[in-house]
Amino acid sequence: QSKETKWMMDAHLLLQKFYHHLLLNTKEGQEAYDYLSGREFTDDMMKKFGIGYALNSWDFALKFLTKRGYSQKLLEKAGLLIEKEHTAEYFDRFRDRIMFPIHDHKGNVIAFSGRVLGKGEPKYLNSPETALFNKSKILYNFHQARPHIRKQEQVILFEGFADVIAADRAGLHHAIATMGTSLTEDQARIIRRHVESVIICYDGDNAGIEAAYRAAKILIEQDCYVRVALMPDKLDPDDYIRKKGPESFKQDVIGASLTFMAFKLQYLRRGRNLKDEGEKIRYIEDVLKEISLLTKAVERDHYLRQLADEFSISLDALKQQQFQVYKSLN
Ligand code: GTP
Ligand code: MN
Ligand code: MN
Ligand code: MN
Ligand code: MN
Repeated sequence: QSKETKWMMDAHLLLQKFYHHLLLNTKEGQEAYDYLSGREFTDDMMKKFGIGYALNSWDFALKFLTKRGYSQKLLEKAGLLIEKEHTAEYFDRFRDRIMFPIHDHKGNVIAFSGRVLGKGEPKYLNSPETALFNKSKILYNFHQARPHIRKQEQVILFEGFADVIAADRAGLHHAIATMGTSLTEDQARIIRRHVESVIICYDGDNAGIEAAYRAAKILIEQDCYVRVALMPDKLDPDDYIRKKGPESFKQDVIGASLTFMAFKLQYLRRGRNLKDEGEKIRYIEDVLKEISLLTKAVERDHYLRQLADEFSISLDALKQQQFQVYKSLN
């Protein structure tokens, strides 16, 4: 670790502490505090996750940190300041936002994500890629979740900050997030180094379902055992916990998570009218293809029977057709 990265981390930590103080203890932070309270973020959660507030100012972080000896150039490299095009004049990247610190896996603050209060674009503004922050290798909350992941021998993977924090409040401390982007191979490897069993719990909208499908494949390639928890009514996990409570979330969402195969069957159904004969046949063909890819004969048999039952097709006919599909795939 070079001297420069050490300085950058120290600057992040100082700023994180001050943002946090502004949120919890000052008049300037009151509106942000009220916004978070309205979303049922408790003081304990704000503390546990180190949440803060960046003032509506162009030079608050600049002054705060240069006064403490950090050069503007270094702070720009750290992603905290932005240079006005080649003028050597700098200003704060984060202004009037709720600040979520992002930690590396040892617990050092290495980046921030700032959320607008209420509506506005972009909803979340992130630190850029820096010497400290390699987005494709960082998982939100991994440093706090790690001992719980080990103990429970399981991890729950969410899309966003608010989901992780709501899950933690609900008693699910083995919660991490990809921060909106798709899960990378590096992130999957990091997960697999600590645990085999992963529950993916992404948002219930189309984007979330597609992303869950892709994440599951990447995790399975790294030899994870994957289940997918589906959110009803296009809710996200944070919405769900607030609406229906932590107990229902644990039982009806996490407890009802699907195997990847069962999830794929649901996935293949989306947007299809199975009352239409043609669409039904294409669905059955797609399912047979998935069944053919299963390596265990017992599993193949189970899903063939399920399919036969659902569509009142003879098991023999299905088996024959599956054999055709199997041959064409090999
Ligand atoms: P809330 O509205 O605060 O509950 O956010 P959310 O987590 O539900 O947001 P959403 O489902 O839209 O996105 C999931 C995650 O993607 C967020 O937690 C962020 O990490 C990330 N994200 C969302 N919007 C943006 C954006 O505008 N820019 C960037 N860089 N990331 C975003
Ligand atoms: Mn607890
Ligand atoms: Mn989303
Ligand atoms: Mn969401
Ligand atoms: Mn949300």
